[in-house]
Amino acid sequence: MKLGVLISGRGSNLEALLKAHAAGKLPAADFAIVVANDPQARGLDIARAHGIKTAAIAHRGFPGGRQAHDAAVARTLKEHGVEAVVLAGYMRIIGRAMLEAFPHRIVNIHPSLLPSFPGLHAQEQALAGGVRVSGCTVHFVDEGVDSGPIIVQKTVPVLDDDDAESLSARILVQEHLAIVEAVDLLSRGVLRIENRRVRRME
Ligand code: GRF
Repeated sequence: MKLGVLISGRGSNLEALLKAHAAGKLPAADFAIVVANDPQARGLDIARAHGIKTAAIAHRGFPGGRQAHDAAVARTLKEHGVEAVVLAGYMRIIGRAMLEAFPHRIVNIHPSLLPSFPGLHAQEQALAGGVRVSGCTVHFVDEGVDSGPIIVQKTVPVLDDDDAESLSARILVQEHLAIVEAVDLLSRGVLRIENRRVRRME
């Protein structure tokens, strides 16, 4: 399955995917292009180092605003034959053009156990909420924020002396496993959405 990956920054989840692919762990995945909404995103260098095509489509100052930017991203992905999209630290809300271009074919990774703590600063939210367990979620993207059907979740303990940095680092280790697991399932075409639940048909 031809995949497009959208990033905004560091790109460690992207790197986890590309390393897994190089190691033969994502046999059905074909990474067609990596798109960043920030031309300075470090993840673009990671993509280039792996020989993957890249595009930077800056949202800042994009003519026509948010929806036009979203449509331009969708168009670029389609031009590269992309069939499904992975949001790997993409800090933009997905608009109608993307959802219509890739219905039930966009997945996102989020650093909390959804539906708890959606949106920004999920790790800070978890600390403020006093939970003893947190983790990460890979889910299908719908019109809400971090609200679509859940594919994979991984848990980590929240320790007494955790701050946002230490908790984020512990969660990130699990993110790199979760995103590979979810993209493997997605690319092998074994996921089915039934109401709010994702089933694995294998
Ligand atoms: C990750 O924590 C991801 O869950 C969140 O943004 C971060 C991106 O990290 N949405 P990276 O760019 O993959 O290193």
